[in-house]
Amino acid sequence: MRTVDIIHSKRDGKELSSEEIAFLVEGYTKGEIPDYQMSAWAMAVYFNGMSARETADLTLAMAHSGDQVDLSSIPGIKVDKHSTGGVGDTTTLIVGPLVAAAGIPVAKMSGRGLGHTGGTIDKLEAIPGFAVERTTEQFLAQVREIGLAVVGQTGNLTPADKKLYGLRDVTATVESIPLIASSIMSKKIASGADAIVLDVKTGRGAFMKSLDDSIKLAQAMVDIGTEVGRETVAVITNMDEPLGPSIGNSLEVLEAIDTLGGRGPAELTEICLELAAHMVRLGGKADGEAEAKELVTRLLDNGEALAKLKQFIAAQEGDSRVAEDPARLPQAARRVDVPAPEEGYVAAIDAEALGITAMLLGAGRATKEDKIDLAVGIKLFKRVGDPVKKGEPLAELYINREDSAETAEMMERTAAAFTIASAPAEKLKLIYAVITKDGIRKL
Ligand code: URA
Ligand code: CA
Repeated sequence: MRTVDIIHSKRDGKELSSEEIAFLVEGYTKGEIPDYQMSAWAMAVYFNGMSARETADLTLAMAHSGDQVDLSSIPGIKVDKHSTGGVGDTTTLIVGPLVAAAGIPVAKMSGRGLGHTGGTIDKLEAIPGFAVERTTEQFLAQVREIGLAVVGQTGNLTPADKKLYGLRDVTATVESIPLIASSIMSKKIASGADAIVLDVKTGRGAFMKSLDDSIKLAQAMVDIGTEVGRETVAVITNMDEPLGPSIGNSLEVLEAIDTLGGRGPAELTEICLELAAHMVRLGGKADGEAEAKELVTRLLDNGEALAKLKQFIAAQEGDSRVAEDPARLPQAARRVDVPAPEEGYVAAIDAEALGITAMLLGAGRATKEDKIDLAVGIKLFKRVGDPVKKGEPLAELYINREDSAETAEMMERTAAAFTIASAPAEKLKLIYAVITKDGIRKL
């Protein structure tokens, strides 16, 4: 087999065989196929796409390119959850304990935040003492014992994806649905999931800006799951405004505690119950979506999910007293209100701009090496559709640095993320569609 012939076929819009795809992925991972040939192939895929079969083949080849997490010592159906990346997205800290309380084992490897999006591992480190680095044995034992562990990624998972994603980033070939879908799914499969629930964000703060593209991406991932025997459900959710009002690591832990305590923001609670219900159904703990929703709602209401969070924090050496006493979380030195510059209705909130502002405040990193400040962030007081009076606070900044010029700039950036219109604006839809192996249901 010659790489040039494979590129040639894809350039001419032909379907590649399973052997050709395996040859490419193996050769590229080992360094036998150079970047320039892989780039040419990625660009050919960008223009000509891939069939469902080719996409599934690529996914499996990448999933098998490095270590794979073996979860077989944990009894039950292991259901993983993945979000395509959002701002102030606290769902894992809420959905993990909820689902574990329902008896679904959750063995999750998570990442750190980069750019305008946060990462679950950083958020967990806001809890004093919390250890995110575990050996594989500790990780598996904890899931067997309490049903839930969330750790930083270890080992050499999907090196083919790591290399190809890096290459795509500099060759303008990221925005290809089969390449994105196989990249995400390869990581979930290598992490050992039997079934997968995907939260596919759509809108301004998301990777996919249009609903059409988000549905196509979700469908491609559900198709891969079906093809490789890992049942997958995708929920398309709105990222035209941040999901919950808190953006920042400590603030989001507190938001998760509040939500599990039944005092959380309505929208965040609704999405978490929706995602958790799909996981519970895929995990075989409920018959149908309605029964699953009832079960997770009960576990939220009766405090069992919050109790699971505390058990999980303690198992990873964190201070579980944060659940009753949030003052144990890192606290910012100052809070500053961001007043509305005019009267009207909130017509839009730019989630990405707020994510960048939170990052600049110190809550996130611009480069992988940056150190973050766990206490700082932004708390929003308004959602799209809300009326505002001039001077009324739109948001509050949590800051540590004493720099009045910087504070003024951050206030300005935060205010600028809000579009205020004179006419009443409609509330945004939270969930647009659910895609399962049986088809798409638009809401
Ligand atoms: N996220 C991924 O993990 N891979 C992509 O290709 C795009 C987003
Ligand atoms: Ca939030």
